[in-house]
Amino acid sequence: MLVLDGKIAAASVKEDLLSQTDALLKAGKPAPHLAAILVGNNGASETYVASKVKNCEETGFQSSLVRLDENVEEAVLLAAIEKLNNDPGVDGILVQLPLPKHISEQKVIEAINPAKDVDGFHPSNIGKLVQGLPTFIPATPYGILLMLEHFKIDTKGKHAVVIGRSNIVGRPMSILLSSNIAQGNCTVTLCHSHTHNLKEICLQADILVAALGKPEFVLPEMVKEGAVVVDVGITRVTDPTAKKGFRIKGDVQYHSVAPKCSAITPVPGGVGLMTIAGLLKNTMLAYRNNRDN
Ligand code: GUN
Repeated sequence: MLVLDGKIAAASVKEDLLSQTDALLKAGKPAPHLAAILVGNNGASETYVASKVKNCEETGFQSSLVRLDENVEEAVLLAAIEKLNNDPGVDGILVQLPLPKHISEQKVIEAINPAKDVDGFHPSNIGKLVQGLPTFIPATPYGILLMLEHFKIDTKGKHAVVIGRSNIVGRPMSILLSSNIAQGNCTVTLCHSHTHNLKEICLQADILVAALGKPEFVLPEMVKEGAVVVDVGITRVTDPTAKKGFRIKGDVQYHSVAPKCSAITPVPGGVGLMTIAGLLKNTMLAYRNNRDN
């Protein structure tokens, strides 16, 4: 059983980006610049954004963080996005989700200039993805593709089962795995909360992607011997014995499922690290598209 170690695969992506940034700086050009907006102080979002900023530093990118109060008016957030849209020194913009309930996520996503939408959530970018046109691939599915590429996991003709149909992970992942791309060409089944016979469908998966956000949902009796299992879950589960008072759990019961797999991503240390790698690659792509002429 091969552990698909996100640290190793992400390090290789970041090494490549750092050498690209070094070359830009040596040529007297600016580094790519990622701007993040964080609304409120959700603990998990704080951690993710801090990690994105730290990873920017590690690859020589410039980063900036705009922090807005939990109660900020939607119009103020939209104005902050517009300012970044109009700043020629900013290549990529991300607004960390989820947002407080009084703010429309859809409005926010659509306010970001699609050319700076390094999360790949804007409808025009998703439309391009569906049509197989060059665009920003949403960071988590992109990270998974990079992981499969790094560990040379063959996907062609395989049956991939994706559990979860979110706009951030499940749906774009299902589209990418079915696309005619290097880590695609799968036959894909997309499962969700209304799926009948989920266990039987999962048992047919050569590649199983769990992206439903329910800790330890996937059990060994749902996994075919020799399957490749990709665990996208990152849920904080209360545990008084843990230093921080919680533990991070994936959507797969790792210890019982891993022995059946040919390859599996751990949590933490798997897909989460690759998400950031995908985001950084998108930021470099935005830079190349927009101002590296
Ligand atoms: N919240 C959970 N995943 C993501 C992501 O990939 N991007 C943003 N902006 N927010 C998220």
